[in-house]
Amino acid sequence: MSMHKKNLLFYSLFACLFVFYISACTRTHHSGIVPGAVWYDTEGNPINAHGGGIMYHDGVYYWYGEYKGDSTYLLDWVKTWECWRADAGGISCYSSKDLVNWSFEGIVLPTVPQDTQSDLHPSQVIERPKVIFNDKTKKFVMWMHIESPDYEKAHAGVAISDSPTGLFTYLGSFKPNGGDSRDQTIFKDDDGRAYQIYASEWNNTLYIGLLNDEYTQHTGVYTRNFINQSREAPAVFKHRGRYYLISSGCTGWDPNIAECAVADSMLGEWRVIGNPCIGEGADSTYNAQSTFVFPIAGRDGQFVAMFDRWNKTNLIDSRYVWLPLIFEKDKPVIEWNKEWTLN
Ligand code: GAL
Repeated sequence: MSMHKKNLLFYSLFACLFVFYISACTRTHHSGIVPGAVWYDTEGNPINAHGGGIMYHDGVYYWYGEYKGDSTYLLDWVKTWECWRADAGGISCYSSKDLVNWSFEGIVLPTVPQDTQSDLHPSQVIERPKVIFNDKTKKFVMWMHIESPDYEKAHAGVAISDSPTGLFTYLGSFKPNGGDSRDQTIFKDDDGRAYQIYASEWNNTLYIGLLNDEYTQHTGVYTRNFINQSREAPAVFKHRGRYYLISSGCTGWDPNIAECAVADSMLGEWRVIGNPCIGEGADSTYNAQSTFVFPIAGRDGQFVAMFDRWNKTNLIDSRYVWLPLIFEKDKPVIEWNKEWTLN
């Protein structure tokens, strides 16, 4: 082989190895969950899915969340509270089979920048999306908190899709049962009934409303809970036939103490059983706020509790605090853990 050909071979080999090295570096693999750290997706980008929820479908976990714009600003014309916000970027979706490594599936509910009147215009607020699957209609149904920039609108928004990864079609927003709907979640029970749980009456009282068979509207059947106790950020889960609801107090982006309540039915009486968090940082919910609790597939009595550690002056950099939730007798317990694995 001539010297020229040898050189060419050497340089091509070197170039291949270099490309392989760079692509290996940009693909991120995690072995555990590190609450409060920047969490990178499989492409090496920080996960942008705040106030989120998980849907488990056909062996895959889907994480839906608020895709926040990258600059945070204070709305100085809002005089009643410190209204820090970032432009809405729609609702993002990530998928995973191991709950640790997440692939970006894209923006499944995009904003509508060309229509300043749309609920989905980037200047508006789109928060706390949650998705459930309707076994009858075969649709994936998303509920979310839709707001005006000053948070005075208090609407619930609904979108549907044929696929978990979208695109979702936006059906519009409204005041459920005629009242406010701010922080919210949805819960699908084993009997196929679904409920929206939402902060109403200026966040003073938490409502639980039964949804229709399609999960796209309310039936008009609802209960008022924790009256005048200002509970928000609700997360509902079920264990051994009983229902549990974790919520936060109402202090804007700042953390406060969590509280858990239990009931024998979703529309029944809720009894407060105290703070589920224990250990370091338990009184401020580990400097975070609840958003969702879900069962780990195939593990009886083992759940993951999801919280948001808001960074109000740089909202896109708000972190995810995910911790194991287990049961001690009948009481759910969450303990701080700086790094953990599903084992
Ligand atoms: C919190 C709420 C967040 C966000 C924030 C705005 O109380 O839980 O989702 O709406 O207020 O300040």
